[in-house]
Amino acid sequence: MNARLLALLCCPDCGASWADGPCRACGRRAPAGGELLDCLGDDAPVGAGATVGAFYDERPFPGYGVGDDALTLLDRCAAVPFARALDDAIPAAATVLDLGCGTAQLAAFLALRGRRRLVVGCDLSRGALAAALAFRRRAGIDNLELARADLFRTPLRRLAFDWVVCRGVVHHTADPFAAIAAAAAFVAPGGRLVLGWYDRFGRAVHRVRSRCARWRGRPIDVLDPVLRRTDLAPEKRAAWIADQYRHPVETSLGLGAVLRTAAGAGLAFVRTLPPAGALDERARAPTPARRAALALRMLLRGVTDPDAGLIVAVLERAPPLATAGDGRHRS
Ligand SMILES: C[S@@+](CC[C@H](N)C(=O)[O-])C[C@H]1O[C@@H](n2cnc3c(N)ncnc32)[C@H](O)[C@@H]1O
Repeated sequence: MNARLLALLCCPDCGASWADGPCRACGRRAPAGGELLDCLGDDAPVGAGATVGAFYDERPFPGYGVGDDALTLLDRCAAVPFARALDDAIPAAATVLDLGCGTAQLAAFLALRGRRRLVVGCDLSRGALAAALAFRRRAGIDNLELARADLFRTPLRRLAFDWVVCRGVVHHTADPFAAIAAAAAFVAPGGRLVLGWYDRFGRAVHRVRSRCARWRGRPIDVLDPVLRRTDLAPEKRAAWIADQYRHPVETSLGLGAVLRTAAGAGLAFVRTLPPAGALDERARAPTPARRAALALRMLLRGVTDPDAGLIVAVLERAPPLATAGDGRHRS
């Protein structure tokens, strides 16, 4: 295993480094390098993790198209403003963690776009990671590492990653606020967390759509901006319906509570998306009045939002005084 990756790993039980061999306290060794750093092994995840893991084992998200390769992924992601903005913001040699990476499309894109970056994708679903591994092999990406672990208990070092991305994950856990704190803990001093979750107001319209679908037995296409698309491949349509209408563990969160949790974990507000824009662009402080205005915008956006109420916040950990401005991000 290469030294750069080893420096990002630690014993999930004691938090001790594996750089000098097995953990001194409990004797646990670093997982074998190679294909997948499997921290769960044959252990099944427990509680909500088991339900969610089984759900994504059957329906890995997001799905790959038949014949997808490095070029098709690069083209597809470059057309998504969020992926482009993230790539623009992350420096050439940064360490990046995608927590709850699913099939690792975003992680693979970031790795392909910056071959000196070290990108680690972590997820608990064996099915999602199998798709990620197959794509990594097919696309020949050697700076993308994949780990199988529950985000509440990973072999990843705290305060070690320049950028942590955790999108569409915390609202599928039993304790979303503990999940946010867990994600925040991986952010290095001077680093950033890009956190995406279902906003309480942004998700309101979808909740109505979902109730109608339950009552009717299937979604009403015309109400859903994704199902209205005529170019949607059948497998993508099925994945969307499962993820949006049949998910067994899902909640939505208010921005104020998320920001308080992040602040408690040492992270300060940079901005939210939408509106689209550069990830380094600082927004004005989210006062109650500005949060109320954003809530209203999210509520109205719900009718046409292709992300069905997903909001993203960029949060940062203050740099250590001596190294302020050392180029962890590109602002
Ligand atoms: C909706 S998918 C999002 C995938 C990816 N982040 C994206 O934006 O395309 C949610 C992913 O979170 C993972 N997940 C949910 N709970 C988790 C946990 N406790 N630990 C690790 N991964 C988890 C699921 O297995 C699933 O692959």
